[in-house]
Amino acid sequence: MEYILSPSILAADFAVLKEQIKAAEKGGAQWLHFDVMDGSFVPSISFGMPVLESVRRITDMFLDVHLMIVDPGRYAEEFARLGADMVSFHYEAAGSEAAAIAEKLHLLGKKAGIVISPDTPAESIRQLLPLFDMVLVMTVVPGAGGQTFIPSCLDKVRKIRSWINEGGLDCYVEVDGGVRSDNIAEMKEAGANVIVAGSAVFRGDPEKNAAELLKLIS
Ligand code: DX5
Ligand code: ZN
Repeated sequence: MEYILSPSILAADFAVLKEQIKAAEKGGAQWLHFDVMDGSFVPSISFGMPVLESVRRITDMFLDVHLMIVDPGRYAEEFARLGADMVSFHYEAAGSEAAAIAEKLHLLGKKAGIVISPDTPAESIRQLLPLFDMVLVMTVVPGAGGQTFIPSCLDKVRKIRSWINEGGLDCYVEVDGGVRSDNIAEMKEAGANVIVAGSAVFRGDPEKNAAELLKLIS
């Protein structure tokens, strides 16, 4: 299996964002994780469309957009059109609309991801697996970078990975929150193949940090 590192620019220094992105890419990171927070689904507000457009212009990296917003159906296509390669949104926010949103993204030629927060059981998205390209299992409560990962979330990663394998499905499993050099191997062993890391990449030297994290999962 291919293991992908997706550095979250939420932890980057926005005054020098381009340099930070280039450094993470040089370190071997394949994807870039883009955290959108609306101040409603989560308490904080991060960044949105104009920043995505600018980032799209300066890199060919795969843009992995994580929408932490209410009413994701209203905005998912716009993020796709502005350059996201994959748009992931929360099951808690989309509910019964999840399948329809995935379909709209697919019609635009984009990938679709479904996200579950720590309190949401894996079972709630089991039926949706064939419709999605990725499941993102949050390993912290969404809303901020730099938190400590919740180990019990890895049981959900194991379950979801086994359902994917049993069903012969083509679906990434991503983990997000609290990834560090001392727990990244656990994430991989549980069955994740896309690993988000914010502070572990952008605090310090992003090139060196990305290269070190990748070494631990390859
Ligand atoms: C949390 C975000 C994460 C966050 C990860 O709400 O979805 O992507 O940026 O940051 P670290 O790796 O610092 O926990
Ligand atoms: Zn995220």
